[in-house]
Amino acid sequence: MGKAILFPPDFLWGTATSAYQVEGENRWSDWSEWETKRQLAHCDQAIRHYEFFQADFALAKSLGQNAHRLSLEWGRLEPVEGQWDERAIEHYRQVLNCLKQLGFTVCLTLNHFTLPTWLARQGGWESPQALEYFQRYIAFVVSEYGHWVDLWVTLNEPLVLATQGYWYGHWPPGVRSHGRMRRVTERLLHAHKLAYQIIHGVTPHARVGLTHNVLSLVPHRAWWGDRWATRWAERFWNQRVMDKAAKHSDFLGVNYYFHQRVKLWPSRRWGLVSFVDPRSLGREVSGLGWEVYPYGLTNVLVGLGQRYSLPLYVTENGIATDNEEQRLSFVTRSVRAVQAALAAGAPVLGYFYWSLLDNFEWDKGFGPKFGLVAVDRQTLARTPRPAAVAYAEVCRSSELSRSR
Ligand code: FCB
Repeated sequence: MGKAILFPPDFLWGTATSAYQVEGENRWSDWSEWETKRQLAHCDQAIRHYEFFQADFALAKSLGQNAHRLSLEWGRLEPVEGQWDERAIEHYRQVLNCLKQLGFTVCLTLNHFTLPTWLARQGGWESPQALEYFQRYIAFVVSEYGHWVDLWVTLNEPLVLATQGYWYGHWPPGVRSHGRMRRVTERLLHAHKLAYQIIHGVTPHARVGLTHNVLSLVPHRAWWGDRWATRWAERFWNQRVMDKAAKHSDFLGVNYYFHQRVKLWPSRRWGLVSFVDPRSLGREVSGLGWEVYPYGLTNVLVGLGQRYSLPLYVTENGIATDNEEQRLSFVTRSVRAVQAALAAGAPVLGYFYWSLLDNFEWDKGFGPKFGLVAVDRQTLARTPRPAAVAYAEVCRSSELSRSR
């Protein structure tokens, strides 16, 4: 069976993680208090990546990956307002140094949802000083770690943070207000702009962007109502954030998880717009009930490439499942979807699978398994799954065997 060369040789092939979800013992972050307050599963030791990072990165390397996306835990670095923790600072030096020693391209997220407890107590992102504190944190990180970083992600999924935390109330601080959600979204986009400027002020050639949870949206039926609802959702969810972020970005980070069939029908959260439950249509779903539609990624990437003319990275894409055949098939279909986007002219420079390891999935706890590598909850032993091996082949060769 012949093979087709599918990707440019310098294409980034990696996986993504976030500090809170893997490190363990992040007692200085708002999520830690939230778990107690809401009686959720406790993240506790997570998967102890804080201790095992060297072995975890060596494993990623042995699986052919050449890039890694990770985040810093602000609350660990600055556990008390204005006081920086020397041990945490040194720890992240070792983490980033380890990645560079192994030859990884490093994509560093400055804020992946969590805030230091002291800032959360002052009102979090709504605090009048939030932007000032954030700028101070960014300035510190850039001067301390800048030389190890290849790609900067200022904020992870600001609209997810704003809706979950300030509209649906599922995440800290548990607010349910449309107005506050909108104001926090604006503030986060402003924070992105400030971070962009600070990073560029120190390292003019830095590449800075943010990640957005981009939805693939299609009308449920071909009538005008569903088409109108789809355009509304496109504007409200996808374009509002990206239009603003793109003005101060060197690239756009795409987190792709959702393909939604949209209809004009009242819903609790989205006014006149509803999403059809994929199960009612007999569609393939993940363990979380999310529709599995890898080819939506092609449309998303092509659309973003045309609208913004900026380089694109798939900064997250993955599936939570207990079915290893499904995961394997998801990985190969997703790689194909990226290839199709490249072939259609989308400027995609890299792909980061979510996630390297099973980890703590926020309010859903440890149930959902997103890892290419399984983590035993008792022993914390790491075991690569078949999808990790298939992905490794792609990473090493930048090719996808036609037989897959
Ligand atoms: C994304 C988050 C990431 C992880 C995945 C499954 O929205 O950025 O932390 O929870 O979803």
